[in-house]
Amino acid sequence: MSATSPDPHRAEDIAVASERRWAIIVAVIIGLLIGMMIITGVHWAAMPPSRVETVDVRTLHIKGEFIESNLGTTLEGDGRVLVRLVGQQYSFEPQCIVVPAKMPVTFRATAADAIHGFIVGKTNANTMLIPGFVSTFTTTFPEVGEQLMPCHEYCGTGHEAMWAHVQVIPQQEFLSRVGKEKRLSCVRR
Ligand code: CUA
Repeated sequence: MSATSPDPHRAEDIAVASERRWAIIVAVIIGLLIGMMIITGVHWAAMPPSRVETVDVRTLHIKGEFIESNLGTTLEGDGRVLVRLVGQQYSFEPQCIVVPAKMPVTFRATAADAIHGFIVGKTNANTMLIPGFVSTFTTTFPEVGEQLMPCHEYCGTGHEAMWAHVQVIPQQEFLSRVGKEKRLSCVRR
């Protein structure tokens, strides 16, 4: 056998070694992917979801933050504008919400019976209301005017009739009114 003739055993050894090498690389990649899935899965499961705040639905109307006399818009001691509201089949309380323009407004809302939700006109104010949980977000209304606030989660036969109004008023007018009335809404009494 000359030195240049192919050695069948050696060629086969090379092929087997190469296949084994690739099998190991693929096994390592699969192992890494499975490891990543396990680690991220356990990590997510171990973290609480962001901002879970609960409220007792059974006593919602009787005591605590969401009793009727506490709903509406207030100016908190720290200067925050806070709107509290409740969604229930088939209305929002209060039915008409007053907010200032060009000031951050924080909403705190919950549902009394079924899952509801709302959006405010063409703004980015948009949330779900889930019984037992407090939904909260902060937004700023850039323009003065009246906006419609429909329920956007199907909540029963009266769903399409469930909506409120949001009156965006100038900042100065809001501040002078909130000084006198403490808790604002535009519901006509
Ligand atoms: Cu409430 Cu739809």
